[in-house]
Amino acid sequence: MGTFDIDKDLESLVLSAEQIAEKVAEAADWLDKKFAFTHDTPLAVCVLKGSVFFFCDVVRAMKTPVQVDFMSVTSYGNSSESSGELEIIMDLTASVAGRSVILIEDIVDSGNTLSKIKDMILKRGARSFTVVTLLDKPSRRKLPIKADLSCCEVGDEFIVGYGLDYAQKYRDLPYIGILKREIYEKNSR
Ligand code: IMP
Ligand code: MG
Repeated sequence: MGTFDIDKDLESLVLSAEQIAEKVAEAADWLDKKFAFTHDTPLAVCVLKGSVFFFCDVVRAMKTPVQVDFMSVTSYGNSSESSGELEIIMDLTASVAGRSVILIEDIVDSGNTLSKIKDMILKRGARSFTVVTLLDKPSRRKLPIKADLSCCEVGDEFIVGYGLDYAQKYRDLPYIGILKREIYEKNSR
């Protein structure tokens, strides 16, 4: 097998589809161990749209039964910096009160989105809050928050694919890569 051609807008590959599958299995296994002795059915929460593929893959790979729910928030708009305020575009339909909540995230960057969602879910009375993220950019953190499990650390680069977008593009790529700087720099000029 030779190398395959990645999308022409990408500078390099971060995780191939095969490597993503390994991370999915690791995350599912970690969650199964963590929730092995939990009496309630955990609620797995997906924040649309970036996390959707990782979320679906992880909950299906888990042996522990979970319920699923979705929410949508704004963090980036069309710029590449997270704004301070979190706006809920679509809220969860389930009540989280008294429940074990598992947030399955695509990426933690400044930490703003994660910390706001965590505060919100705990304020609504969740019994516990566990966060698993596929990607993590620790060097970009503005708030002192960490995922309970982060599967892959990346540097200060703009990442797309497998759910992650730039201006709504590239989400459908089955792998993850670094977007060429010229693609996002020409749009911010
Ligand atoms: P934070 O609030 O700065 O931690 O940003 C979290 C959200 O910003 C993520 O859930 C993504 O939707 C988005 N984001 C952060 N970094 C990237 C990236 O490199 N590529 C695509 N989206 C990103
Ligand atoms: Mg996200």
